[in-house]
Amino acid sequence: MTLETYKKELQATAAKLVRKGKGILAADESNPTCGKRLATVGVKNTESNRRKYRTMLATTPGLGEHISGAILYEETLYQKASIYGVKAADERLIIDHLRDQSIIPGIKVDTGLRPIIDTLPNAKEGEFYCTGLDGLLERAQEYYKQGARFAKWRATFKIHHGDDESGGPSERAIQENARGLARYARTVQEAGLVPIIEPEVLMDGDHRLGTTRIHQEHIYREVYNACALDGVYLEGSLLKCAMTIPGNECEMEEERTPRRVSASTVGVLMRSVPKEPGGVVFLSGGLPEEAATVYLNAMQKVDRSATFEKRREWNMSFSFGRALQHSALKAWGGKNIKAGQAALLARAQANAEATTGNYVAGSQPSSDDHLHIAGYTY
Ligand code: 13P
Repeated sequence: MTLETYKKELQATAAKLVRKGKGILAADESNPTCGKRLATVGVKNTESNRRKYRTMLATTPGLGEHISGAILYEETLYQKASIYGVKAADERLIIDHLRDQSIIPGIKVDTGLRPIIDTLPNAKEGEFYCTGLDGLLERAQEYYKQGARFAKWRATFKIHHGDDESGGPSERAIQENARGLARYARTVQEAGLVPIIEPEVLMDGDHRLGTTRIHQEHIYREVYNACALDGVYLEGSLLKCAMTIPGNECEMEEERTPRRVSASTVGVLMRSVPKEPGGVVFLSGGLPEEAATVYLNAMQKVDRSATFEKRREWNMSFSFGRALQHSALKAWGGKNIKAGQAALLARAQANAEATTGNYVAGSQPSSDDHLHIAGYTY
């Protein structure tokens, strides 16, 4: 099997993941990151607790009405669900419970960020590339056999020096990561997995929204140039990116209005993303839950018809991690399954409504907590 034989399936899977009224649950935190999350509710980072937590998420009644796919960490793809009263012999995989609700399992295939040595004068200023290309085809083939149908690879870019012209990511880091994203995307397509191409511009810093816009546009163009070189089948891929917002330390509150953010985000995409990708999904990147939803909702209302780029009609949906899980994790607290599931369902429904522009702000419970973590790794 090769990319040619998978093309139809890839396109169909990509379309399913971003169809209106649905979006993706990102629950692919690596074990160390999952441990940090669990620690916030006093739960130890053990295989058994990660299993309980992910089972709670995956068995939420009604989740499939709002969620089309779930990105998982490798451990979860092979893990049995932990359900009270079910004998070991009768246990089913966590992904079986997802599939019961027509939620497509996805898999994080990158193996984390490493410093690009020469760009590392000190840890804070350093830049990173994303690892995981070695043996990727074989891993992707195994993941497909196990039931995964899409993949994720996240490269990060930091705006180092506020609004200075030279303050963005170095060209070297951009090219390095663009090449990695393209190689990954083409490779997993050869194994039948839809690649989520994720060049994340982090919100760390005090830069203004216009600075984010400039860097995002440049990065996305370079990523798609690299994809063209590698022959990535864009119709069978999704872009996952951050919304176009000012840095988390920027004090210009007027740059955070839903109108400003939604118009800027859609503008960036129109100018720098080709028309072919199967869709665009957003990460929440540290935004509070409700803000992420309200921004997504506002984006659906930005008029895309009046411009010469009007063929860029991809659906815009969500692939949130923190902004879908934060309240659920707190409500669960290691034991309260029903409360955790109710909180997850509420945010899933809110975001699903936001994919059609029908979310009424405040109509679902949410937490106002800021979820940003400096230099965040997934
Ligand atoms: P957040 O929504 O928490 O940013 O995570 C999404 C994700 O998958 C990051 O790679």
